[in-house]
Amino acid sequence: MIIDWKEIALNIYDKIKAKVSLLETKPCLWAILVWSNSASIRYIKQKQKWADYTWIDFKLIKLDENINENELLKIVSDFNKDKNISWYIVQLPLPKHINENSVLNSILPEKDVDWFHPINQWKILIWDDTWLIPCTPAWIMNIFESEYIDLVWKNVCVIWRSNIVWKPITALLINAWATVTSCNSKTKDITEFTKKADIVIVAVWKPWLLKENMLKKWSIIIDVWFTVIDNEIFWDAETDSINNSWHKITPVPGWVWALTVAMLMKNTLKSYKK
Ligand code: GUN
Repeated sequence: MIIDWKEIALNIYDKIKAKVSLLETKPCLWAILVWSNSASIRYIKQKQKWADYTWIDFKLIKLDENINENELLKIVSDFNKDKNISWYIVQLPLPKHINENSVLNSILPEKDVDWFHPINQWKILIWDDTWLIPCTPAWIMNIFESEYIDLVWKNVCVIWRSNIVWKPITALLINAWATVTSCNSKTKDITEFTKKADIVIVAVWKPWLLKENMLKKWSIIIDVWFTVIDNEIFWDAETDSINNSWHKITPVPGWVWALTVAMLMKNTLKSYKK
């Protein structure tokens, strides 16, 4: 079965829009974009589109791709001090000459609706549902909820080790009583682990890493992201070989942008209400 994340995303947007329509003032989300990378630009366009749809104000600051790290840090510091800016994001990826961690670490945690600041990341480990969740792990958990997938007793294999996806999703799964195995590119025999998994979450950016013969029958596959090679999209799971009547799988290609951005709008609304 293909998991219809378009339907899930639209449902979330409509709920956010209904809630925003009842507010006296609109929440306002600011975004800093260093104008360089086509992935960042595509992402920002989605953020603008869905902010408009949900009636959240979206204010975008575009910076030249040659900006240096100190200049960007100065702008972040000004955003932190500005009382008119309650929440903002810095769009990733940033150009290679800028250290992403230095920038993320200098965003004021209270204004960080991406929830990427180390203090906020740490809060995910402790868990309190008044806090936010970074967007990608948030939509993965949302899929489990929308598809009525109970995580208790489940073996979940998470493949990869990034700050944005792996660390927070692992913590969230543990908090939800799943039994979690963590694999990465140096794992000796990934199949040994994926074969035992009821759910495989893959975010490796390695085309077609996951194949049917690596999976347990009836398992659920959450394929987080894709690689673009010569304008062609390659997902981490080789969907053509994976039998949809046995497995539940996120669709290829799909509405992954929209679902990720839906979580950002949800975080903005939640911060506004607080
Ligand atoms: N690039 C890829 N995912 C994200 C995200 O969730 N937030 C930001 N700011 N940049 C990203």
